[in-house]
Formats: sequence, structure tokens, C-alpha cells
Amino acid sequence: MGTIIFVLWVGANQANEGRMTGGQLASFILYAALVAGSVGTMAEVWGDVMRAAGATDRLLELLHAESAIAETATPQPLHQPSQAAIRFEQVSFHYPARSQVAALDDITLEIAPGETVALVGPSGAGKTTLFQLLLRFYDVTTGCIRLNGQDIRQLSLHDLRNRIAIVPQDPVIFSANALENIRYGRLAASDNQVMAAAKLAQVEEFVNRLPKGYQTFLGERGTRLSGGQRQRIAIARAILKNAPLLLLDEATSALDAESEILLQEGLNAAMKGRTTLIIAHRLATVQKADRIVVLEHGRIVETGTPGDLRKQSGLYARLARLQFDV
Ligand SMILES: Nc1ncnc2c1ncn2[C@@H]1O[C@H](COP(=O)(O)OP(=O)(O)OP(=O)(O)O)[C@@H](O)[C@H]1O
Ligand SMILES: [Mg+2]
Repeated sequence: MGTIIFVLWVGANQANEGRMTGGQLASFILYAALVAGSVGTMAEVWGDVMRAAGATDRLLELLHAESAIAETATPQPLHQPSQAAIRFEQVSFHYPARSQVAALDDITLEIAPGETVALVGPSGAGKTTLFQLLLRFYDVTTGCIRLNGQDIRQLSLHDLRNRIAIVPQDPVIFSANALENIRYGRLAASDNQVMAAAKLAQVEEFVNRLPKGYQTFLGERGTRLSGGQRQRIAIARAILKNAPLLLLDEATSALDAESEILLQEGLNAAMKGRTTLIIAHRLATVQKADRIVVLEHGRIVETGTPGDLRKQSGLYARLARLQFDV
């Protein structure tokens, strides 16, 4: 405004003295207004550019973040890719954030191909930690984990994780529709394969009641689904992935008894011929397991068939008494 008033003042004086015509003054003022407007817009754009630069910095930081897990430079090819035998050899593990307390302490466990093993034990015993080590989200502190006899640190991460299907304790749902969310289990799957897996996982039952069926948007982090519905999506993903090792971490904990029994049929089909590790607090869900491993404070305290463990007077028998009321 100051500039315009100044120009008007000088221009009016000059027009008065006859050194400039009224038309020249008018056109000059019009140009000046145009230039002033553009400079104002440029200032705004510059602000946007600076904000974008700040955000890009943060994005680049994330893109360049390096995992603490180092992949071996010369990965071994897989032995027997279609089956999974697991061996934990004297595995101990501390979380990096808590180096003084062992999350797992001297775990030795062998699981044969096709076997179903249940992991039970109090909250915080280290059950989920065992799964995280198998998937190599962390490396063991001492000892070693073998898949078909190969140390998992000798395999490429892609090969290792490709052979493991997991239903996590807290499934992640992406902000996409139901179909795409299930397809995340195996990106190359056709729509029909996705729907067949959805049927086995009892997803179809609730998806058909959503406004747009499989095309319904599930919301940021699956906020438009119930806990049990999110679990069923995660189970459908695992069924679709069709991997030789299946890890179920409290996979059916949020379901009512009726849905759980229906789902169990689908899960049984998925578990057939596969090595399966099941974590469950509800002991009724693990009665069909070949073997139960009881963990407490990061150690294995008992192993045996459900029947055998009930007869002993250990932790499992105590938990079973509380749950089954016998
Ligand atoms: N990221 C982490 N950093 C540090 N400590 C952790 C981390 N995750 C888990 N822990 C600790 O490790 C121990 C075992 O945790 P874990 O998640 O394996 O328990 P859990 O047996 O799966 O329990 P729940 O039945 O409640 O799921 C706990 O004492 C926990 O506090
Ligand atoms: Mg857990």
C-alpha cells in the first residue's frame, strides 16, 4: 500500500507538471498492481516449498533407515522348501531396550514337520518373542534357530519370511478395501483365490453384510472393523499365503465361541500337513495340539500332550483347573 501511495504521489505530481500523461500513469499503476500480486503469490509458494522440504527430510530419513538385522551376503539356498522343521538350540534373548532381563532363557525345542505345537503360559512369558525370533525381527543373543537344519541367519530374509505365515496378536489392517487387505497374504493371488481363503476364515460371513462387500473400505488401521473381524482378515491372509510354517498368536482370542468353532474348521484345513505353532490363553483351543509347551519367565517349564500335562501338578494343570473348573 505504501509503495502504491508513493507511486501515485510522484506520478500525480509529474502529470501535474506535464512530464507524464494521465494514461501513462494509469497503465503504470495497473502494471505495478499486477507485479505486486505476483510477488505476493510467490511468497506463499515459497512457504509451501519450505514446508515440503521439511517433510521430505523426514521421509528420506525413514527411507534410509537401516534395519538392525543384517542379511548375510551369501545366502544359502533353501533345503526342502515345502516343509518346515524347527529347532531352537539353547536360545537366549534380551530385547535391545532391556538388556539386563532375558526375555528368553536357554530355550531348546525341536518341532517336526507337520507337527502342531501349542505355546501356553502367563502373559509376558515370552511366547510372542519366540515368534519374533523365528521371523528374524530380532537376532538371538546366544544359541541358534534352525529351519530344516539351516541356521536362519544363513538364509535370505525373503526366503525365510516367505515360508512363514503369521496371524499376529495385533493384526495390521491397511487403509484399503477388504479384498486388497486379504490379498496382502499373497500379492499374486487371483480374486477367486482371495475369496476362497476368505470363506475358510469366516470373513465372507461379515463382508457380505458390509455396504459394498469385498470392495468396502476398511478405514485407517481397520477402525471400521471389530477386533474379531480384524483377526479373521489376518487369518484369511495366512490361509492365502499357503506357507509350510503357520504361526498363530492368539488368532481367535477375540471371537465368540460359535464363530471360533466355525473358524476352527477352516484353520484345521489350513493346518493340515503344515507345521503349526499356536499361542493361546484359552486352553480349549489347544486341546487338539500334538504337544503343549508351557513357558514361564522366558523358560520352558513343561512339555507334553494336553492329557499328560493335566495329570501332572504343574503350571499347566493349575491353569487348566482355573479354566475348565475340574
Ligand atoms: N520390544 C520390546 N522391548 C523390550 N521388552 C519387550 C519388548 N517386547 C516384549 N518385551 C518384554 O519381553 C517379555 C516377553 O514378552 P512377550 O511379548 O513375548 O510375552 P507373551 O508371552 O507374548 O505375553 P502375552 O501373552 O501377554 O502376549 C515381557 O516381559 C515384555 O515386557
Ligand atoms: Mg504375546
